[in-house]
Amino acid sequence: MSDQERWAWLREQTPVLRDYVYLNCGWSGPLSYPVVEAMRRRLDLELWHGPTTRTVMDDRQATTARLREASARMLGADADEIAITGNTTEGVNIAVNGLDLRAGDGIVTTTAEHGGGIVPAYFLRERRGCELRLVPLEAECSPGEVLERFDQAIDANTRLVLLSEITYSTGQLLPLAEISRLAHARGASVVVDGAQTAGHVPIDVHALGVDAYAVPSHKWLCGPDGLGMLYVRRERIAGFDPVKVSGRAAASYDFEGGFEPEREKVTKFEVSTTSGPVVAGTLAAVEQYLESGPVAVWDRVRDLNRAAEARFANIPGVAPASPCIDTTRSGLFLVTVGEEDPGRVAAYLQRDHRVVARAVRQYNAVRLSLHAYNTEADIERAATGIEQALSEGIPDDILAPVPGGAE
Ligand SMILES: Cc1ncc(COP(=O)(O)O)c(C=O)c1O
Repeated sequence: MSDQERWAWLREQTPVLRDYVYLNCGWSGPLSYPVVEAMRRRLDLELWHGPTTRTVMDDRQATTARLREASARMLGADADEIAITGNTTEGVNIAVNGLDLRAGDGIVTTTAEHGGGIVPAYFLRERRGCELRLVPLEAECSPGEVLERFDQAIDANTRLVLLSEITYSTGQLLPLAEISRLAHARGASVVVDGAQTAGHVPIDVHALGVDAYAVPSHKWLCGPDGLGMLYVRRERIAGFDPVKVSGRAAASYDFEGGFEPEREKVTKFEVSTTSGPVVAGTLAAVEQYLESGPVAVWDRVRDLNRAAEARFANIPGVAPASPCIDTTRSGLFLVTVGEEDPGRVAAYLQRDHRVVARAVRQYNAVRLSLHAYNTEADIERAATGIEQALSEGIPDDILAPVPGGAE
């Protein structure tokens, strides 16, 4: 199957694309038939056999093991470095709160982080008295400029560097391998928020050299909500203490006071029962992405980003808010739309043009997530909608959505 045939097949398998121009996988990706079928098969198994029979338990064990292996393949890791979590933010929390950070220890993060990254950093400042430095990032920064800013921020006092590999708010790819080398040379751990990367950009955590890397199922992978994966570098697993604990965090225990904590196994970060159908759906999503080919997806989404840049350049009043240089460009394309409120623009696009996108208030921008299943025609629909918003105005009955709500 050629890449073009593959993208057409993916479109066919994703029914929401028949009715909507869906440009919001950076928030949550659309489900496809293979993913839903995998979840349905698992639900049927539970329906007809009950959740604790041998048949169903064996299936759970096999599916979880396959998910660990497929995720490791996707991330460039080994299966015994992958913990199953609930989402990216849980993975980030496990990692940053698992470090033995104390008053005065330095944390470096950026001004372009999601709340799921920056708020855990603020809590470390509040609760443990860590010193927090924010590296300023703008969409037009080159990788060299980004690196230079990290170079200025990370010093011998820095114990943790926490950053996204692709920022949700500017859509830029950061030079993670170089930042990671810099951080390690100064004795800091590197924890990565990969919410915008899995299913989007090829990832090789061993080559990147990072200590922990958290990803979700439900964004660019187009898996179900409610699951994520956390990579922890084998030699560092013992260095992160599990924050929430259960029997899996014990190497042994009895009921007379005997207890030995588990140190080396990545499963110490997994607390308890996860949803079988969600594990099955995530496995199908990861396998589907690996079959599409991570390099082909990455090439495709950046082609679409260049096409969007060219199309939106023709709209007076619209300015790009994501990178226009190829070294940092991703599948996230952001624009400001004159003086319009981006939440109202997104709500208008959805109601009057059936284009699903979102606002990023920090940069006053509308964000289009361009995935491999999207087309130039989708970009045209979004551009036409924005032209119309500018020429005719947004109807008064379109309200700006509540921040963090349905925008
Ligand atoms: C960069 C970034 N981090 C974290 C999150 C939250 O992800 P999750 O729902 O997997 O915790 C998002 C969601 O948009 C994000 O873009």
